[in-house]
Amino acid sequence: MQIPDPTTLADLEALAVRVATECGRLITDERPTALGVHHTKSSAVDVVTIMDQRSEELASRLLHEARPQDGAYGEEGLATTGTSGVSWVVDPIDGTVNYLYELPAYAVSVAAVVGDVAVEGAWRPVAGAVVNPATGEVFSAHLGGGAHKRVGDDVVALQASPADTLAMSLVGTGFGYDADVRRAQGAVVAALLPQCRDIRRLGSAALDLCHVADGQMDAYYERGLHPWDMAAGWLVAAEAGVEVRGQGGGPAGATLTMAGAASVLDELTPLIGG
Ligand code: IPD
Repeated sequence: MQIPDPTTLADLEALAVRVATECGRLITDERPTALGVHHTKSSAVDVVTIMDQRSEELASRLLHEARPQDGAYGEEGLATTGTSGVSWVVDPIDGTVNYLYELPAYAVSVAAVVGDVAVEGAWRPVAGAVVNPATGEVFSAHLGGGAHKRVGDDVVALQASPADTLAMSLVGTGFGYDADVRRAQGAVVAALLPQCRDIRRLGSAALDLCHVADGQMDAYYERGLHPWDMAAGWLVAAEAGVEVRGQGGGPAGATLTMAGAASVLDELTPLIGG
């Protein structure tokens, strides 16, 4: 995997911030008053709204205008191969169910990655941004540049939480949309709950990872994520000093994504079959 030079990485982060911010503005400012479900995907509760589609179309256009030679993949069907070695992975609304219910925990996630996004473990994020338009939080990072959170004019460098035991950790997680998968995920959470400070299920994997990066959660794990759910958040967490791992200690991916202090992940791993 060819990593872009530091100047290009900083430019990719700036572009990710601009695109995620513009999409965030779109989904708040142009949300229809009677927003309904446009269609469903993997199950009746895996919903897509018209704004997921419009946000992905806007991201696709802005990225193509800025860097036409890059690939681009998105949750709602965007799939364009490129020639530059850089691809964009876009979640036009991560936390769509929260967005539908007007719970302020949804985000636009835009990441630049290198490698083959279609193959678990064969790609990595190199720059990215996660924007929560409901709170005005802009999380961003590029490889080697640290992770930052901007709210209005305030910019803070993110630093991982100091929690180093599972017993003292607030652990975030998430669930898939398939009932059988959720049954198994619920059983894992039931066994974990007595062993940690508490569990949170916010409903946006991108924000979960950013919250571990800024110390609002101590650890996070989830199975079944797609690259667009976690690419930008993975990098934000890693650049904040958080350990990000996958199944068997490999790279984060669909099989497993976990984030937190190394000592906390060591305790968490056997409990979640990692
Ligand atoms: C979902 C959210 C949720 C996670 C699911 C994801 P979506 O993404 O990130 O927190 O638990 O696994 O699919 O569908 O809202 O883009």
